[in-house]
Amino acid sequence: MHCGDILTRKLQTTLENRRQNGRLIEPKNPQMVAQMVDFGSNDTLSLTSSGVLRKALLDEIAKYPDFEVGSRSTRIFEGTTQYLLDLEEHMAQFHRADSALFFPSGYEANVAVWSTIPQPGDVVVYDEYIHASIHDGLRQGRAVTRMFSHNSCESLRECLLEICKSSPVVAKGEQSVFIALESMYSMDGDIAPVHEMLRLTKEILPHGNAIFSIDEAHSNGLVGENGSGYICYYGLEKEFPIRLHTCGKGLGSNGAAVLANSTIRSYLINYARGLIFSTAPAFPSLAAVKGGYNILASKEGEERRTHLQNNIRHLYEKLTGHPEWAKYVFSGIISLPTEKTWRTGPFRGPIIPLVTELGQAASLAQRLQNAGYQVNPVFYPIVPRSKERVRLVMHADNTAAQIDEVVDLIMNWSRSRFTDQLGVSGRLVSDGNMYQNTAFSD
Ligand SMILES: Cc1ncc(COP(=O)(O)O)c(C=O)c1O
Repeated sequence: MHCGDILTRKLQTTLENRRQNGRLIEPKNPQMVAQMVDFGSNDTLSLTSSGVLRKALLDEIAKYPDFEVGSRSTRIFEGTTQYLLDLEEHMAQFHRADSALFFPSGYEANVAVWSTIPQPGDVVVYDEYIHASIHDGLRQGRAVTRMFSHNSCESLRECLLEICKSSPVVAKGEQSVFIALESMYSMDGDIAPVHEMLRLTKEILPHGNAIFSIDEAHSNGLVGENGSGYICYYGLEKEFPIRLHTCGKGLGSNGAAVLANSTIRSYLINYARGLIFSTAPAFPSLAAVKGGYNILASKEGEERRTHLQNNIRHLYEKLTGHPEWAKYVFSGIISLPTEKTWRTGPFRGPIIPLVTELGQAASLAQRLQNAGYQVNPVFYPIVPRSKERVRLVMHADNTAAQIDEVVDLIMNWSRSRFTDQLGVSGRLVSDGNMYQNTAFSD
């Protein structure tokens, strides 16, 4: 038997197990996706789907008629082109940072930071819902790690107090404590309470050895002056020595920049293996990023940000204001982790997580997809087993009519689930008379 056959059979068995557990990943057919209305992708300002970014890219390319396509080498050799340096300088100024270091993706940037910057003896404290790329970086890194409950200032406080108790060098300010946050969380769509976190951390660690870091993947381009981000909106640049801004979401292209001081930048160039042992990004990718930044700073960018915020608000109002919404939430059919918080604060995140009862996210996603709306169900292990969901993502170019129809579809689906529940619990009552039938409460 050919040894490849043995391997193939083992791989197939594993994949088959995944399929049977409902976890097999099979990318969608792009032709189908192209015909659907986008309520799923991260192109939140609709820069890519509208073609606006294509024009900005071509305009940018036209400024460099003699451009060389490839970078020819890694960043540590010829790959650091003048265009790349200029783009980094532009991003640093745009986001009011000392310096920027560009990576081909946010994933690689996070791995680079978290595998290299925290030093032996340091502690990294992270929100439980932090992105997988930060986990992957930390796994390769040298610091001790501690997790706190999602967006909980109380949990962060307990975590920091415990670290100070068990590690006198940290308490004395001789080792650093990194605090890793996201501005808008990619699965729950909620926003980090940075002011309170900064305040309590300064109280517990008064020696200045706390280093806050924030991943602005989902806020880049969407909030703040010209879309410069969450931290810029609040003028907290100095409080966050490490920031990550990705370009694959609101900016519609790809890549990311680590915003930090020049020492951190230089350290990454020296120690980030992904950057050292890989070819630097080619000019067309960089020009797309620059084209995106040109749009952000224009009237078009401002209008798109406003549309997006209006659309998010419209969806929340329609959904949570629907006369039947509370009934379905109470019945456990559907819930919205952001229901209590979406009204607070000056802006909202574009990710709307519709958490369904266990085993039902695929059914809700299918209902929306059958009606022509592209959405993504998300399952364990990406989210906790009991919190599977349909992740709706709002876009600047979604129309009010589309949003209204999506809400109608969600409510119709919830109604049919409610009817099914009535059937099941009604049967339970008549069969065994053992269960309180709360579903009849209205
Ligand atoms: C919070 C967060 N950080 C980092 C990334 C990775 O960014 P990229 O897609 O540019 O690799 C993502 C993408 O899903 C994200 O949501």
